[in-house]
Amino acid sequence: MRIDIITVVPELIQSPFAASILRRAIDNGLVEVHFHNIRDYSTNKHKQVDDYQFGGGAGMVLMIEPIDKCISGLKAERDYDEIIYMTPDGETLNQGIANALSLKKNIIILCGHYKGVDQRVRDHFITREISIGDYVLSGGELGAAVLADAVIRLIPGVLNNETSALTDSFQDGLLAPPIYTRPAEYKGWKVPDLLTSGNFPKIEAWREEQAYEHTKKRRPDLLDDE
Ligand code: ADE
Repeated sequence: MRIDIITVVPELIQSPFAASILRRAIDNGLVEVHFHNIRDYSTNKHKQVDDYQFGGGAGMVLMIEPIDKCISGLKAERDYDEIIYMTPDGETLNQGIANALSLKKNIIILCGHYKGVDQRVRDHFITREISIGDYVLSGGELGAAVLADAVIRLIPGVLNNETSALTDSFQDGLLAPPIYTRPAEYKGWKVPDLLTSGNFPKIEAWREEQAYEHTKKRRPDLLDDE
């Protein structure tokens, strides 16, 4: 998979890809992540990429021309399955969207900044708009990092133990059950006896029940379509 991230502030999004699971996925050739600075596509001598809104109003707007040059240049090199714009008025990211995107070959993620991008970018280049939640960030960069992380960890081979993504919260429509590690007792706080019993069928049944109860308590909305 290849992900091209387009932004005016690459510094805001590069570090999550430089460590841990995402770094290993890149080093192992399971995903390629490329960053493109919109400013590099400006034809203006001051490298200007934003301007005032037509009709007045607070906040600067990212101009269409440098974004067009960047996206069109990428599209001339390869086909893209999705060109995503990160925006608070997009569809809210969930595990289903991450699963679907993890099966794609090439995606572009465009990050908004300031007030956002000229609407014509959205109308003519963007195939999907995604929000990471009902709150407003200073730009799309942190949202793009969240999206890329959620997608990349699902690519086969990225997690050491393939089953570990399969047992994540949301993957089977339920929240994850409680987990424990050594020591079996700490300050008198004990791990449930069953987990140290070696009775794996019973452990599995306990986990399923715990996941169901936890979901019923915290996120009953997830059980609604059953
Ligand atoms: N840009 C600003 N706020 C955002 C959000 N909530 N999700 C995605 N991109 C954003």
